Amino acid sequence: MGEKKRILTGDRPTGRLHIGHYFGSLKKRVELQNSGLYEPYILIADVQALTDNFNNPEKVRKNVREVAIDYLSCGIDPEKSTIYIQSMIPEVAELTVFYSNLVTIARLQRNPTVKTEIAQKKDLFGESVTYGFLGYPVSQAADITAFEGEVVPVGEDQLPLIEQCREIVRKFNSIYGEVLVEPQAVLSSGKRIKGLDGNEKMGKSLGNAIYLSDSEEEITKKVMGAVTDPSRIRKDDKGNPEICMVSYYHNLFSTKEECKIVCEECRQGQRGCVACKKQLANNIINTLKPIREKRKYYEENPEIVDKILMDGTKKAQEVAKQTMKKVKKAMRLDY
Ligand code: TRP
Ligand code: SF4
Repeated sequence: MGEKKRILTGDRPTGRLHIGHYFGSLKKRVELQNSGLYEPYILIADVQALTDNFNNPEKVRKNVREVAIDYLSCGIDPEKSTIYIQSMIPEVAELTVFYSNLVTIARLQRNPTVKTEIAQKKDLFGESVTYGFLGYPVSQAADITAFEGEVVPVGEDQLPLIEQCREIVRKFNSIYGEVLVEPQAVLSSGKRIKGLDGNEKMGKSLGNAIYLSDSEEEITKKVMGAVTDPSRIRKDDKGNPEICMVSYYHNLFSTKEECKIVCEECRQGQRGCVACKKQLANNIINTLKPIREKRKYYEENPEIVDKILMDGTKKAQEVAKQTMKKVKKAMRLDY
């Protein structure tokens, strides 16, 4: 005890998780959890989700439990990892206020992740972004430091946020004393999985994702609609698997031998796309089967999920309280 490095990571509950999340981060989190070297805290970032969904609180609320179920179904084990709800940790909001003095508006505007996201959210923000959204890296710094997170496994897109957190920590420590722990980002990728339509990114807004919660029928339907080599019209047309999303997914879900055969037969015009897709759909269905079955169990027993969330949150509250004591003392706010 005490020897284990604390991991801090999490997701915004704006939708259910898909296989892009699975290969990009969940799989790695489960591995880290099971290595026994870490003490993982996994937050469901509902407050952060509201920064770009403030007009849709019901969606955020609903997805808190969905994301928790996705975690549990993938092998996040509440005996080993603490899953908690961000909004139930008031210290995070308090720290956000304290840290907001230590970061400039210009620095936030330069943050590449924030910059990209603002550009993507013109529909929501128009010409002027909210204070809350611009400042979410500050609240993310609070998420991490409230738990003295040492290791933050994230995707590449999150690196600028961790860098900003490290800057805040250094600034805080230089002014108030060495209290905060400077976290380290660890790339959790995993690879970024392309969408079924060939888009570089799999995403719910893009409609090109396979969800961990998808039924067998939904998986088959989506795979049947995947983008293939457009020059193949007849079954004996010679194809190029390199530009086919079905072949791309075979590489993720099928055996090496199967992949080799897919490529050879496709190139020689000996393989029909429909059969090729059916084979892939079956392999995806089988791979995700254990996840789907666990998911069903938790869906049927929501009280178990809620208990896990409440127990985790209670434990998290204790940790955040301890950090806050140190912070307030350092900031001369310990009245
Ligand atoms: N920003 C992350 C996302 O978009 C979620 C998140 C919130 C997070 N707080 C965090 C990730 C702290 C790692 C550490 O999914
Ligand atoms: Fe893609 Fe398979 Fe059709 Fe080749 S045979 S184009 S790999 S779906």
